[in-house]
Amino acid sequence: MNPRFPFTPYPRGWFQVAWSEELPAGGVLPLSCFGRELVLFRTEAGEAHVLDAYCPHLGAHLGHGGRVHQGNLQCPFHGWTFNGQGACVAIPHAPKIPPGATLNAWPVQELNGVILVYHAADGAAPEWRVPALPEATEPEWLLAQKKQWRIRTHVQEISENVADPTHFRYVHSALSMPEAELSSEGHVLRMDSKMLQPTPRGPVQGRIQGEAHGLGYWVIRFSGIADVAFISAATPVGPEHVSLRHTFFIRAPTQPGGSNNVGKALVAEILRQVEEDIPIWENKVYRPKPLLSAGERAIPVLRHWSRQFLEG
Ligand code: FES
Ligand SMILES: [Fe+2]
Repeated sequence: MNPRFPFTPYPRGWFQVAWSEELPAGGVLPLSCFGRELVLFRTEAGEAHVLDAYCPHLGAHLGHGGRVHQGNLQCPFHGWTFNGQGACVAIPHAPKIPPGATLNAWPVQELNGVILVYHAADGAAPEWRVPALPEATEPEWLLAQKKQWRIRTHVQEISENVADPTHFRYVHSALSMPEAELSSEGHVLRMDSKMLQPTPRGPVQGRIQGEAHGLGYWVIRFSGIADVAFISAATPVGPEHVSLRHTFFIRAPTQPGGSNNVGKALVAEILRQVEEDIPIWENKVYRPKPLLSAGERAIPVLRHWSRQFLEG
């Protein structure tokens, strides 16, 4: 256990491991996540699979030189071949496949342009699925931008940032302290907040709504000034490191030749705010019993909800 964070670095839940477009049909990618080495591959028919990376034969990493062949993944070292469920289906020049020639297969969900893997320390099956995001497919929305950071922190800290109204004023120079209402239902947490945002026409009241499905997958929607929706996906990669990926969708211009510059400026502002959070996240510790002031009621609500993923 890391002394900065008094709980497991690898909570239970769905976590993004790649963007869909990084993995063409027949593609193979090595992954380092949850303190493990994994391999992600896509069959010729388009299905994505994730397996433990090290071959049960002599230990080659299947993500470095492995090849997809007829829906299976072939080891680069001696050609043992595995299906998407991790079973060895062929060994060159060997009539028999030995028992135990299997790799652990991880639950995968691919939607909204992202590939997610379900992690549970005990290997339990997923208890929920991540829902489809209408903005990812509706023609009136455009994929605007994607951005990834590697940050020395814990995924809990990144979720907690959403429920921390005071920091928006001090870290992000917001014009006012946002009022955030949080409510939880099982693995889902919802946040609704209003905040004054600067625009060339003066401050405008904006609305931010967030929905988390576990600690690894948030959808955040801005409205009021411009319509922006984004996926914020924090994935624990090592005991003290998180890979954070943001995928932004903005509403397309309503008039032909119209502009979505306001939406693009809001995306740039959100990216700027992440960069402002990073030095705080990288150097802080987690206080299990924080001294909270008035107006910080959302933090204990978030912590109570997140406990289910961090324990057991
Ligand atoms: S190490 Fe994979 S086939 Fe030998
Ligand atoms: Fe922040």
